[in-house]
Amino acid sequence: MRIGLLTGGGDCPGLNAVIRAIVRKGINQHRHELVGFRYGWAGMLSGDAVELTNETTRGILHRGGTILGTSRTNPYKEADGLDRMRATLELHRIDALIPIGGEDTLGVARRLTDDGIDVVGVPKTIDNDLAGTDFTFGFQTAVQIATDAIDRLHTTAESHNRVIVVEVMGRTAGWIAAYSGLAGGADVVLVPERPFDLDEICERLRRRQASGRTFSIVVVAEGATPKGGEATSAYADATDAFGHARLGGIAVELEREIEARTGYETRMTILGHVQRGGTPLAYDRVLGTRFGVAAVDAVTEGRFGKMVALRGTEIELVALDDALAAPKLLDTAFYETAEVFFG
Ligand code: F6P
Repeated sequence: MRIGLLTGGGDCPGLNAVIRAIVRKGINQHRHELVGFRYGWAGMLSGDAVELTNETTRGILHRGGTILGTSRTNPYKEADGLDRMRATLELHRIDALIPIGGEDTLGVARRLTDDGIDVVGVPKTIDNDLAGTDFTFGFQTAVQIATDAIDRLHTTAESHNRVIVVEVMGRTAGWIAAYSGLAGGADVVLVPERPFDLDEICERLRRRQASGRTFSIVVVAEGATPKGGEATSAYADATDAFGHARLGGIAVELEREIEARTGYETRMTILGHVQRGGTPLAYDRVLGTRFGVAAVDAVTEGRFGKMVALRGTEIELVALDDALAAPKLLDTAFYETAEVFFG
């Protein structure tokens, strides 16, 4: 078979591990040919493709980013998008596609399935908010980066008797905030699933101060909202091709409000894309590799319209429809465990 693959949406540590695994297993065991489309769905529209071989995918396991490049292109929003993708598949004699991405990229994959194209998806997002899989690769690396940052911010907060607000990624779900907040010993963790009340936060900080603790760490997911309010964006009306607002900046507001209401000196740090960059942890290399191997096996067996997924300790196949039905929100029990250690 000739199999096409692409990486779409935000990049994520572990993407190269998936690419390498698909190529290695695909060529060495199944005798397939592999073609990579560059910059996500943009490469499918324009026909920008490269042959992937054992040689061209050597030495990439530990590298962050994606050797194929990525974009947030939505091919169904482009004029003749489907026809152009069909033409590319024909030109490169592609029998099946493996798109590696989050809800947007896999949403396109599902539509392609409906349009008669054979697809097996691989779930990717540092946010860990894709349903159907217990974890996505990239999440653990992002959590470690955020935890390392919180550790560093702890010492400076303590030296200056300050409140430090740390903003992490997490558009609809607070997985990174809750995991890094628990691991880093945060005093307050704000997540999109639980709208916050600033008075309550300030009260908690005052109680901490009254009990002799002179500094505090507040971790906030970029998509967290005040009760009855909306997510904060420093980018006004900026949206991507899938209609998502560009978030970021809630920490600026929290810094200002906490200092004004409590009188405690407050500083904020937005971790941003640092969380997506650099070397993947061993966990994400292993998970990405297992996903890649399972995806090329699924294509070989003709099990299309599915996504590979981690369920417990096993890699399984789930229907794309089920994976995309709704985002996977933060587990309540997990948040309650993290909450035990708040301020
Ligand atoms: O891929 C998910 C994500 O990391 C979100 O948490 C964040 O809001 C978004 O990507 C940022 O996307 P971009 O890199 O396109 O600004």
